[in-house]
Amino acid sequence: MLASGGGSNLQVLLDHFSGAGAHAGRIVWVGSDKATAGALVRAANAGVPHAVVADPRDGDALVATLHAAGANMLVLAGYLKLIPEAVVQAFHGRMVNIHPALLPAFGGAGMYGQRIHAAVLEHGATVTGVTVHFVDAHYDRGPIIAQWPVPVLPGDTPASLGARVLRTEHALFPLCVEAVASGAVVLGDDGKVHGHVDIPVRPTAAEWRFGLVPDTAGGASAFASEWARLFPR
Ligand code: GRF
Repeated sequence: MLASGGGSNLQVLLDHFSGAGAHAGRIVWVGSDKATAGALVRAANAGVPHAVVADPRDGDALVATLHAAGANMLVLAGYLKLIPEAVVQAFHGRMVNIHPALLPAFGGAGMYGQRIHAAVLEHGATVTGVTVHFVDAHYDRGPIIAQWPVPVLPGDTPASLGARVLRTEHALFPLCVEAVASGAVVLGDDGKVHGHVDIPVRPTAAEWRFGLVPDTAGGASAFASEWARLFPR
């Protein structure tokens, strides 16, 4: 995994892959371009090998580090540097990123952190969300694996909206990473995503915006607490 910031998404993945039940992978290495990144502290606390990436533009060095660590998948969680071409090629179809908006809106170079949520509010959007996607050589442009909507509520600030989006990131990201790690979701030779992430509830119900009522009968009750976490009142 690569992360530049606090690493809360890293933490949910550390928790997920070390948690109960069978998992399709484990986190073998964490890197950051920032020596002070909280993500490195979280990796250290979890006993996961970690390092500062000396030169984020040196793709060959990063590929060598990842291979030496035994990584066959690369997860970006708040990593702010552009991924070098050598890494994009080496991890084609095996690299995913999470973005705190519904791509292709509110993405691209310079769109990170609170800027994204400020832009959503500035535009008067009533819906934002989370996108998990495969990574290509451009910021925020790779094929989409899964998305989840998050309502913009009256009185929201970039901080309050960002916090709501982040809670949803934490619910969605482990599902997506597990799906790619297990092969349930693959990037095909046609450049399209095949398979699907098994998201507990569908966002198509009229109630999704404010309500907590799932639109699926079967299995939905098992995810009642998750639903409440996704859409806190
Ligand atoms: C998240 O909002 C993620 O979507 C974005 O950067 C933020 C990282 O937060 N790419 P954290 O470091 O995981 O807490």
